[in-house]
Amino acid sequence: MTDESKIIDGRGLAKKIEERVKYEVEGLKKSTGVVPGLATILVGDDPASNMYVRLKHKACDRVGINAEDHKLDASISHQELLALIESLNLREDIHGILLQLPLPSHLDAQEAMQTIIPTKDVDGFHPCNVGKLLIGDEQLVPCTPAGIIKALEEYGVEIEGKNAVVVGHSNVVGKPMAAMLLNRNATVSICHVYTDDLKRYTKEADILIVATGVKHLIKADMVKDGVVIFDAGITEEDGKVYGDVDFENVSKKASLITPVPGGVGPMTIATLLTHVVIAAKHFAGQRTHLYK
Ligand code: GUN
Repeated sequence: MTDESKIIDGRGLAKKIEERVKYEVEGLKKSTGVVPGLATILVGDDPASNMYVRLKHKACDRVGINAEDHKLDASISHQELLALIESLNLREDIHGILLQLPLPSHLDAQEAMQTIIPTKDVDGFHPCNVGKLLIGDEQLVPCTPAGIIKALEEYGVEIEGKNAVVVGHSNVVGKPMAAMLLNRNATVSICHVYTDDLKRYTKEADILIVATGVKHLIKADMVKDGVVIFDAGITEEDGKVYGDVDFENVSKKASLITPVPGGVGPMTIATLLTHVVIAAKHFAGQRTHLYK
């Protein structure tokens, strides 16, 4: 295996997914007249969130999904935010609603997420979709872990029976990631900021997923030879982005590893597009098993 072949090509994989989504968008339009529509909601002017939403819109444009941008002032009231979500819930031309996180602290993110109707919850954050994930019925699930599962499949990585270690226990990545790995019969450990002796766990990992936002938390002496690593962390410093893994040194031991940038990020966005199509198909009556 050459050094290049062990680096997971997130951009290449995203491109493949986009081609498939574009084909499906065209097919849906032809057969039903439905054009998938995504509404994004961005509250405030956090530069990173702004950039993520912009990338999501560009991806929608590339595949023929109508994307509508709702940029709200940071001072918006909670009631105004809920009213916007409720109006989008009722729209027939909007099939997915994405509320970019984090929200300003005066807004209740949990309540806002729960106001999005589950069939339009393309982020998979609504408790109904989280519950479905936990019982093994994965439809609209969080995009980052879903993209990682897709990459594991594409690269032919066996999950069943493997030791999978997830570092980070957020609702966005860590917890749903652990559930998805468990659904595929991995033996899963979840580590987090309170874990004593992190290395004891990471050393045992056949598959290591890291999503903490701590630059270069994972060093070469913390992993075993041949490990498969997904790095979902992003830290910006002086205009450069860093992952949670010390890529230069850790990559020497890994059999497969994602770079930052160009790894998990593009796969997350491509997965979001697939979720908008699933939601639009559900609306068009083509797939009724989202909610029975
Ligand atoms: N903020 C960071 N990651 C995400 C994500 O996947 N979805 C949303 N809505 N906000 C985020």
